Amino acid sequence: MKLPRSVESAEVGGQVVLVRSDLNVPLEDGRVADDTRIRASLPTIRLLLERGAREVRVCSHLGRPKTEEDRAKYSMDPVRAAVADAVGDERVRVLENTRFNAGETKNDPGFAAELAAGCDLYVNDAFGSAHRAHSSTVGVAELLPAYAGLLLLDELRNLGRLLGDVEEPFVIVSGGAKVEDKIAVLENLGGRADAVLIGGKMAEDVRSDNPFSFHAVLPTDVVAASAFEADAETKVTPFDALPEGWLGLDVGPRTRADFARRIVGARTVFWNGPMGVFEWPAFAEGTFAVAHALADCDGFTVVGGGDSVRAVHEAGVAERISWISTGGGASLELLEGRELPGVAAIPAAVGVS
Ligand code: 3PG
Ligand code: MG
Repeated sequence: MKLPRSVESAEVGGQVVLVRSDLNVPLEDGRVADDTRIRASLPTIRLLLERGAREVRVCSHLGRPKTEEDRAKYSMDPVRAAVADAVGDERVRVLENTRFNAGETKNDPGFAAELAAGCDLYVNDAFGSAHRAHSSTVGVAELLPAYAGLLLLDELRNLGRLLGDVEEPFVIVSGGAKVEDKIAVLENLGGRADAVLIGGKMAEDVRSDNPFSFHAVLPTDVVAASAFEADAETKVTPFDALPEGWLGLDVGPRTRADFARRIVGARTVFWNGPMGVFEWPAFAEGTFAVAHALADCDGFTVVGGGDSVRAVHEAGVAERISWISTGGGASLELLEGRELPGVAAIPAAVGVS
């Protein structure tokens, strides 16, 4: 993969640098509920400070504000406070939510010019937003000398490994509900995998109408529930013999053992999407079994997508995963083999491929 030029090659001393980070974090009661993306954005900000930038102007979107009332709900205040706590340097300024300007999502050149005003350089570190062609991810890159941030580059290097010659066995694990979103990725990667293990709602969709040109491994058993409820009556049944009116809300113990064995024995693993309704303890075992198996695997393991990322954190194994992507949609689009507009807008690195 051709990488964009790095912030490390930029002359930033004395300059005003506009940084686009993905600080789109979950909020709860007006506080940052998960600061993973903030922490992941700090190395680039710190690098710029260490190298003597005069000002580091950080911008990001937060949520999908539509109405005037959304302005209070999606203000950057809690994020700004978290960044200030972490870096404690007066040269850092966090701008207000880019999506408060209606031009942002239209890649409006006027808003891009507003963002670029007074800045000397632009650094895009927002991997999670790199699949969006917006003013803050693409428009400004046309107005200022543009560079890639450290997180963006790490994401491209790590996810990019899955697109190249991977060490085998290569196992893909996929689940979750949004099958349409994942078909293209699985089609692009699935043919090169030794096994594609499917769980969750996706498994049922694939059983009734298999869209894939490769062989997908489906569950052999499921945890069936009498209703879509956390405390529903449950029993383990064969995958293809779910009693009438019951729902398969997790993969069963035989499937867990089979999936875990294949994952642990792999040299490369990519996981996107839970195996069941893991928010409910009665249906969490399958998803946690996959998380633990990835941790126990000595190969190169990658997790992408909000729900599976949450699951590896809840399972307490995040430290033992090779790469946890900060991008959901962006990681899927990259693995589909698509060019990300936010990356394409940055000049390529010279002499590196
Ligand atoms: C994300 O959370 O996936 C990114 O920040 C992009 O957000 P969006 O889907 O609202 O563009
Ligand atoms: Mg491991």
